[in-house]
Amino acid sequence: PIIPVLLAGGAGTRLWPVSRDALPKQFLPLVGERSTYQETLLRVKDPMFGPPIVVTGPHFHFFAQRQAEEIGVDATVVIEPMRRDSGPAIAAAAAIARARDPEAIVLALAADHIILDLEAFRATCDHGRDAAENGSIVTFGIKPAEPRTSYGYILPGDSVGGNGVKRVERFVEKPDAATAARYVMDGYLWNSGNFLFRADVLLDELARFVPDMHAAVEGAVAHATTDLGFLRLDPDSFARAPQKSIDYAVMEKTDRAAVVAGDFRWSDVGSWDALFDIAPRDDEGNVLQGPVVAMDSRNCVVHSDGRLTAAVGLEDMVVVSTSDAVMVVPRARSQDVRDLVAKLKTRN
Ligand code: GDD
Ligand code: MG
Repeated sequence: PIIPVLLAGGAGTRLWPVSRDALPKQFLPLVGERSTYQETLLRVKDPMFGPPIVVTGPHFHFFAQRQAEEIGVDATVVIEPMRRDSGPAIAAAAAIARARDPEAIVLALAADHIILDLEAFRATCDHGRDAAENGSIVTFGIKPAEPRTSYGYILPGDSVGGNGVKRVERFVEKPDAATAARYVMDGYLWNSGNFLFRADVLLDELARFVPDMHAAVEGAVAHATTDLGFLRLDPDSFARAPQKSIDYAVMEKTDRAAVVAGDFRWSDVGSWDALFDIAPRDDEGNVLQGPVVAMDSRNCVVHSDGRLTAAVGLEDMVVVSTSDAVMVVPRARSQDVRDLVAKLKTRN
């Protein structure tokens, strides 16, 4: 079976004030009743997949374990001593999977995405599997809706081994706006940020391109300790890993990258605007979450954690109300919430 690896250590800054350092978005029910982390676990609760490995930070491992138990999933929760971006996290999980089975096939999944069509998602995994077994690092490509700069872009090339899998001609992480616009015209796909690969292949590629990350991660796994059923990576070794995402560390450089087009509705729920795109809306086009009322308002997100929140005459706005913070932002400026949070952190 394929070993699912869930990356659950991100910060989710742009969904402030709902997503916080103390409880980032992957553990929150953003749309519906379960967290995106739980939905991700359920997506791979199938005989096609083995028991999952979860990689998260030292403040979230209890959440990760409890939320897995709640849905009847027995996950191995790996604790990273510090945040080092997705590169070291994926590599550590790959080394753990390889120790269990030298030929392990890993499916690395972001724990903070929404995927609406379960069957299509599993079919895509199935289509990518042969290529992964034969040594490709397979990503799931998404047809771009617009030139967003927060994604990786993939130019598909020739077929590799059928099933709609193509070689990656080019992988460019987070291009500038003009380049992204050109890529959308030229038939590039978005990188969904989910990867299927043989654990040993990923580790070999990492050793070629970022040897210090590879060495740090292998050390952190070799000297990991078990602690109340958690697997804690060795802090001294892990601290030596450079902070780099898998996209920059491996995907931009490797010639073993392949892509299979994901035929499912996907969102990384990266911002309030992205949540607006995927969440159910009322007749006026508003996403209303919690005890909220909107009158004469169109295409807004109004979210409350508990306090009655009311909007009148708003268009294309986001209003978020929590017990200790209220935020109002035009939907089109949802990306700027990251800068807002940075500014708040410097305030006394
Ligand atoms: N365990 C762990 N530790 N997980 C992490 C860490 C970390 O230090 N940093 C990030 N992650 C997790 C996040 O929670 C998320 O699930 C995943 O790794 C990707 O990290 P993001 O920080 O969300 O990356 P991104 O959204 O900027 O870009 C990636 O995803 C895009 C699609 O959503 C890239 O893969 C892009 O190419 C891609 O288009
Ligand atoms: Mg993301």
